[in-house]
Order: sequence, then structure tokens, then C-alpha cells
Amino acid sequence: MFATLRPASFQPLPILIFFLLSLNSVQAQSDPIAAEASSDTITSETATSQGGSSDEAAIIEGENLFKANCRACHAIDQKLVGPALGGVYERQDMDWIKAFVKNSQAVIASGDNYAVALFEEYNQTVMTSFNFSDTEIESIIAYIKHETENAVSADASEAGVPGAPAQAAEQQPGTFLTAVVIGLVVVLVLILVVLFLIINLLTKFLQQREGLDEADRAIIDQKFALSKIVKQPAFVGIVAFIFGIFVLKSVIDGLYQVGVQQGYAPKQPIAFSHKLHAGQFEIDCNYCHTGVRKSKSANIPSANICMNCHGQILTESPEIQKIYAAIENNRPIEWVRVHNLPDLAYFNHAQHVAVGDQECQTCHGEIQEMEVVEQFAPLTMGWCINCHKETNVNTKGNAYYDNLVELHTQHSNQPLKVEDIGGLECAKCHY
Ligand code: HEC
Ligand code: HEC
Ligand code: HEC
Ligand code: HEC
Ligand code: HEC
Ligand code: HEC
Repeated sequence: MFATLRPASFQPLPILIFFLLSLNSVQAQSDPIAAEASSDTITSETATSQGGSSDEAAIIEGENLFKANCRACHAIDQKLVGPALGGVYERQDMDWIKAFVKNSQAVIASGDNYAVALFEEYNQTVMTSFNFSDTEIESIIAYIKHETENAVSADASEAGVPGAPAQAAEQQPGTFLTAVVIGLVVVLVLILVVLFLIINLLTKFLQQREGLDEADRAIIDQKFALSKIVKQPAFVGIVAFIFGIFVLKSVIDGLYQVGVQQGYAPKQPIAFSHKLHAGQFEIDCNYCHTGVRKSKSANIPSANICMNCHGQILTESPEIQKIYAAIENNRPIEWVRVHNLPDLAYFNHAQHVAVGDQECQTCHGEIQEMEVVEQFAPLTMGWCINCHKETNVNTKGNAYYDNLVELHTQHSNQPLKVEDIGGLECAKCHY
């Protein structure tokens, strides 16, 4: 019975392994929690954006028309090239709005006081004329009304509940994990304390007992000595072993990371935000990255493309002034390159985006959510090869592939993958 109390039988390795395993499973559990929380916020968002509407179909049609035609110059709640359109249906009646959208210059030329004043206020910027039917314009206004009213209710509740849980959810995984680790440590310490108390009690009890022989006495009186344990070869061996494994693992990880820049997000000379431009204002990637569908390289937009809008938007902003400075000095803006394959590898955007029908987000992540662009994928050879093994070739409506598909289906019932068209051949990617 006393043998179980002896320090030699204390086994740190299984306990340590168990501890590490339990940490891992905690981490795995915390992720679905975060995912669940974020999907909650999504559904509640869509719920509010759909709730409280009178004629959903018209609002949806209006939203599409607005985004395709008006968004470049108008927002609901802020001035862009043209005025904020929130509440415009209260400023003017429907007939005036219809006439203005169909041909604003005609309304201004007719001498309408309001229109003339507005035209002057906006530096005589000519609004495009739209050949829309009355119902189409009504649907746009229905959408604007819906957005105006929703914006008001969102403002009202901003400080309250809806925003807060979303933020809490974002922070949750990290804090949750630390909380659990701290909890575990506290529990372990408590267990230790209880064990020591039990040992103390038992030794006291045994010391008072009569009729024990010398050997048993020796064990009972033995002092718990840390230095003794530390000096034991088994202990030293185990510690050295664990240490060795950790060192080896980090060396191997380090070697795999040589030349890999995943997560690289350099500071750019102008605080250009994809979240704002591609996310909030839904400007098409193609509008700025003009080469992406037709050439090898996607292109970084020149300052002239920025000027299409910033000739008029936010002209006073110091960040925008940097664009003007670049144009005046006839020097390109010195963007810091984020993605960079070594020269020995060949990559072509048009092949992947236009022919292969791959989404930007598959390789670049959710760019439209990024304030600062970050390299999302590792861009290693293994990454390219894996996708070529897994991805089907987009053969629909591409006569080039007809014969290949026919040949392929003769000896396989799997769809044609990139590897089947030579996507793993060294020479395809290496010059
Ligand atoms: C090229 C930029 C541009 C586009 C595109 C544009 N607008 Fe305008 N809009 C303006 C400007 C600028 C004004 C201010 C009056 C002026 O300068 O003619 C204006 C004014 C208006 C007004 C009057 C606002 C007020 O406060 O009374 C309405 C309504 C309007 N636009 C609706 C639309 C709708 C609907 C669309 C889309 C179908 C649209 N606009 C597309 C630039 C634009
Ligand atoms: C209004 C113009 C504009 C739009 C729209 C835009 N971008 Fe960009 N993009 C830029 C500029 C400017 C840079 C260079 C500065 C930077 O890295 O932030 C850039 C950089 C990038 C880079 C990094 C390039 C590098 O250096 O390796 C990627 C990837 C990218 N954009 C993808 C996208 C995707 C995907 C979309 C659509 C969802 C998009 N962009 C929409 C202007 C734009
Ligand atoms: C299609 C129109 C459009 C194009 C093209 C465009 N922007 Fe913008 N940009 C906007 C709008 C809209 C805003 C937000 C305006 C606001 O917040 O009032 C904005 C805001 C910004 C801001 C934030 C400025 C501040 O002080 O808050 C920067 C910086 C900026 N843009 C840089 C650029 C650069 C650099 C380019 C060219 C690569 C570019 N933009 C191209 C429409 C555009
Ligand atoms: C199959 C993966 C893949 C897809 C899909 C993809 N890209 Fe890229 N992108 C890359 C790689 C790889 C690079 C680095 C190229 C290099 O360094 O030569 C890159 C580089 C870029 C750059 C930096 C400039 C350049 O051309 O090197 C921009 C901008 C860019 N991508 C935008 C886009 C946009 C916008 C889309 C969607 C329309 C897109 N990419 C789709 C893999 C992809
Ligand atoms: C997201 C998946 C994906 C990734 C990642 C990817 N590719 Fe591809 N790749 C494709 C698809 C799909 C095609 C087939 C396009 C077509 O139909 O021609 C393709 C085709 C190619 C081809 C032409 C093959 C041929 O036989 O015509 C080359 C070259 C290529 N990729 C290079 C690369 C390189 C280099 C990388 C890594 C930097 C890469 N790809 C990463 C999906 C991917
Ligand atoms: C789908 C495209 C693709 C194919 C197919 C491919 N590679 Fe690569 N390879 C790459 C890319 C991209 C890199 C650069 C990776 C990096 O920078 O981490 C690379 C890197 C390499 C390197 C390392 C060079 C260095 O400087 O580290 C070697 C060696 C290499 N490839 C050999 C081959 C051989 C041999 C084959 C044929 C069996 C092959 N590759 C097929 C895309 C490919």
C-alpha cells in the first residue's frame, strides 16, 4: 500500500500528454463556437434587412437597379458625387424625382428653382440620364425608403444590443481558450493541494500507529525531496526527450516556412482599403485590376483610375491628396507588393479566372473584408499542385475541351481534373 505514495512511481509523461491532448480538444471546441456565433450574427443581419418591408420584390429590384446605376455617385446616408438620397422622397414629390432621373438637365433647363440650386451646389456636375420606366424608378425609391428607415432604426440601437454580441463573438475564441487554460491550471493546483493534504493525514495517522517494522517507519518518515526527483535519471531523460521533440518540431516548421510569406501584410503608402472600396461600395475587382481576366498579371491600378472618383470624392482628405501629388509629380504611387512568386514559376491570372472560372477569394481570401491586403495562401508549389489535383476543369461551353472530355470519359468516370490536362507537369509551371 505504501508503494503508491513513493515518488518514484509518480509518472509525469502520461499526465503531460493528457494535459496537452485536453488543451488541443479545447481549441478544437472553441472554433465551432466562434463559427456558430458568427453565423448567428449573419442571420440576424439578414433578418433585419428583410424585416418590416411592405413590398419585398420591388425593394429587391430597386436595390439591384440602385447598385448597378446610382451607387457610383450616390449613397443613402452620405454625400458622394451626388447628394445622399436618404429621405429624398420627402424633399421632392414622385413626379419631380421621375423627371429628374429620366433627364436631370431638362428639369434644370426648365428653370425649376430647386433643381437649379442643387446643380449649382454640386458644381454643375451633370447627372447621367436614365431611360427607366416609372415602376423602375418607384422601386428604386422603395429601396431608398427601406434603407433610410432601417438606417434610422440601426442608429437608434447602435449603442445597445445588436452590435455588441457580434464584437464579443469576434473576441471570444482567444479569451475563451485562456479562460479554460486558467481554469485547468486552477483545478490541477487544487488537486495537488488535496493530494498533499491526504498524504499528510495518512502519514500522521500511520506515525501514531503501533506495531510497524523499521522498513515501514523509514518510508513514513521519508521527506518529500524535490532535488532527489530531479536528479533521477528517468526524470532527466523524460525532460530531455520532451525538450528535444519541441526543438525538432520548431526546426522542421521553420524549414517549411523558408520563403513562405503567408500572412504578409505590409503597410501601404496610401491607406487604401479594400473593405471600403470592394466591400462597402462593391466596386468590381475588375474595375481596378484590369488585367485579371485577360492577361497573366492582374495589374495594380494607376492613379488615373483612382481619379475617376477621387477627382470629386473626398478631395480634402490628406490620403487623397497623396494621389494628386503622385499625378502632379508624374510619379506612380509606390505600392508595396504583397504577392510575389519566384521567377522560376509561371502563373497566369486569365487562365485561372477567365478559363478556369476560379474565384479571387479562393486564392486571395476575403479581400473585400481587408483594410490592408494580406497574403492569404502560402503560394508554395504544394499549394498549386493540391488544387490542380482536386479541381475540375471548367469545360462548359469551351469547345477547346470537347475532344479531351470525350477521350477522358472513355476510360474514367471521374470528371476531368486539372492534373488530367497536364496541371502537374513541371514544364507547365517552370520555365
Ligand atoms: C454620374 C453621377 C450620378 C449618377 C450615376 C446618378 N446621379 Fe443622381 N445626382 C447626381 C448629382 C451630381 C446630383 C446633384 C444635382 C446635379 O448636379 O445635377 C444628383 C441628384 C439626384 C437627385 C436629387 C437629389 C436631391 O437631394 O434632391 C436624385 C433623386 C437622384 N440624383 C437620383 C438618382 C438615381 C435614382 C440614380 C440612379 C438611377 C442616380 N441619381 C444616378 C449624380 C449622379
Ligand atoms: C478601387 C480600386 C480597387 C478595387 C475595386 C480592388 N482593388 Fe485590389 N488593389 C488595389 C490597389 C490600389 C492595390 C495596391 C495596394 C494594396 O495592396 O492595398 C490592390 C492590391 C490588391 C492585391 C494585392 C496585390 C499585391 O501586391 O500582391 C490583391 C490580391 C487584390 N488587390 C485583390 C483584389 C480583389 C480580389 C478585389 C475585388 C474583391 C479587388 N482587389 C478590388 C485597388 C483595388
Ligand atoms: C468607383 C469610385 C472609386 C474609385 C475608382 C476609387 N475610390 Fe477611393 N473612395 C471611394 C469612395 C466612395 C470612398 C468613401 C467616401 C466616403 O467615405 O465618404 C473612398 C475613400 C477612399 C479613401 C479614404 C479617404 C479618407 O480620408 O477616409 C482612400 C484613401 C481612397 N479612397 C483611396 C483610393 C485609391 C488610392 C484609389 C485608386 C487605386 C481609389 N480610392 C479609387 C470611391 C472610389
Ligand atoms: C488560382 C489562384 C488565384 C486566383 C483565382 C486569383 N489570383 Fe491573384 N494572384 C495569384 C498568385 C499566385 C499571385 C502572385 C503572382 C506573381 O507573383 O507572379 C497573384 C497576384 C495578384 C495580384 C498582384 C499583381 C500581380 O498580378 O501579380 C493582384 C492584384 C491579384 N492577384 C488580383 C486578383 C484578382 C482581382 C483576382 C480575381 C479576379 C485574382 N487575383 C484571382 C493567385 C490567384
Ligand atoms: C484554386 C485552385 C488552383 C490553384 C490554387 C492553382 N491553380 Fe493552376 N489551375 C487551376 C485550374 C482550374 C486550371 C485549369 C484552367 C484551364 O481550364 O485551363 C489551372 C491551370 C493552370 C495552368 C495551365 C495548365 C494547362 O495544362 O494548361 C498552369 C500553368 C497553372 N495552373 C499554374 C498554377 C500555379 C503556378 C499555381 C500556384 C502558384 C496554381 N496554378 C495554383 C486551378 C488552380
Ligand atoms: C502547378 C505548378 C507547378 C508544377 C506542376 C510544378 N511546380 Fe515546382 N514550383 C512551383 C512554384 C509556384 C514554386 C515556388 C514555390 C515557392 O516559392 O515556395 C515551385 C518551386 C520549385 C522548386 C524549388 C525552387 C526553389 O528555389 O526553392 C523546385 C526544385 C521545383 N519547383 C521543381 C519542380 C519539378 C521537378 C516539377 C515536376 C515534377 C515541378 N516543380 C512542378 C509550381 C509548380
